[in-house]
Amino acid sequence: MKNFTNYTVYDKKEKYHDDTKVVRGALGHDPVTGAISFPIFQATTYRHIGIKENTNFNYSRIINPTREEFERTMAILDGGYKAFAVTSGMAAVSLVLTMLKSKEHILISDDVYGGTVRACENTLKTMGIEYNQVDFTDIEEVKKNIKSNTRMMLIETPTNPMMKVADIEEIANLAHKHGITVVVDNTFLTGYYQKPLLFGADIVIYSATKYIAGHNDVLAGVVVVKTEEQAEYLKNQNAVLGASLSPMDSWLALRGLKTLAIRMEKHSSNAFKVAEFLRHHPKVKKVYYVGFEDHPNYLVTKKQTTGFGGMISFELDTMETVNKFLEKINLILFAESLGGVESLVTHPASRTHTEVTKEIREKLGISDTLLRLSVGIENSEDLINDLKQALD
Ligand SMILES: Cc1ncc(COP(=O)(O)O)c(C=O)c1O
Repeated sequence: MKNFTNYTVYDKKEKYHDDTKVVRGALGHDPVTGAISFPIFQATTYRHIGIKENTNFNYSRIINPTREEFERTMAILDGGYKAFAVTSGMAAVSLVLTMLKSKEHILISDDVYGGTVRACENTLKTMGIEYNQVDFTDIEEVKKNIKSNTRMMLIETPTNPMMKVADIEEIANLAHKHGITVVVDNTFLTGYYQKPLLFGADIVIYSATKYIAGHNDVLAGVVVVKTEEQAEYLKNQNAVLGASLSPMDSWLALRGLKTLAIRMEKHSSNAFKVAEFLRHHPKVKKVYYVGFEDHPNYLVTKKQTTGFGGMISFELDTMETVNKFLEKINLILFAESLGGVESLVTHPASRTHTEVTKEIREKLGISDTLLRLSVGIENSEDLINDLKQALD
């Protein structure tokens, strides 16, 4: 019989494909009882064996077996050294930002998630840390914005909602010449379709609320690091922040993760059909979708991803059409968030990007007639019929 110390020993499962990795996890099952569904260790503290002897577990803010199983599965999927599961995507962003010190500078994507901008504007600035937003698809622009005190680049690719794709390898090569850490928010594609660490990025972050957990029922975030040194630093920072994911939410995320591969395939094939439909509809002015061969960054997408994902943005002809569309849409739900099994549509200008001024929104292309669609895993014909009736 194996004993509890086996919780710290796991098979890295590098020999397996990603669809096997996500199903079978790190330990995969409880080594003590053999339970196939990894147990929820709903405990805050652990009995010590003796003065200098312990079970490798002490207190759940620092370590918990259920959270460990989720973290290790994420690290295996992304090819990282260690992962940290935290209470939301924003907690993941905040944890990584603690790597910056006063008087340092960070570059972030121009149409990065609004919460990340808020973290830079409201928190970093008060701590004496500067930031700039830049279009990471334009490497010359990135070069121009690097300062002597730039220490981090935080990029999203594809971006939200304009679906711009940045070349991770090119950016990492440039950043490393200047001693800059590259962080990629990989929420949209997940480690199933895109592995930034293998293209030179140093850290990957997720809103695991989205595709990782996948069912619109749990808030979670993940940070995956490449080195032992980064892991040690973030372990200490996270112990202070106290943002560790609860055992129950870790279990929900782990359960969701098991079906990541099959969900991503369905999101992706549905999105491809929906994007084609939208492109040919007379009331749709433009469709932003990374799977189109004429997408300006298509070659970069082909180089660094193995799938296109489930996100589409599209612009309608008039505000009147937008209002009618949002009123009539029925199967697809008008709601924020993305990456769950249910298809959701949102209006970035009035919902997710309200903190961005109209002038900047227009510069980025986030017009009042732009909608963002997170294509779920329902039947694609049903989704297209719903879009059709709402547009017609
Ligand atoms: C790309 C991206 N990163 C981070 C976040 C923040 O995640 P959470 O809502 O889990 O805090 C979001 C949320 O929408 C997101 O879309």
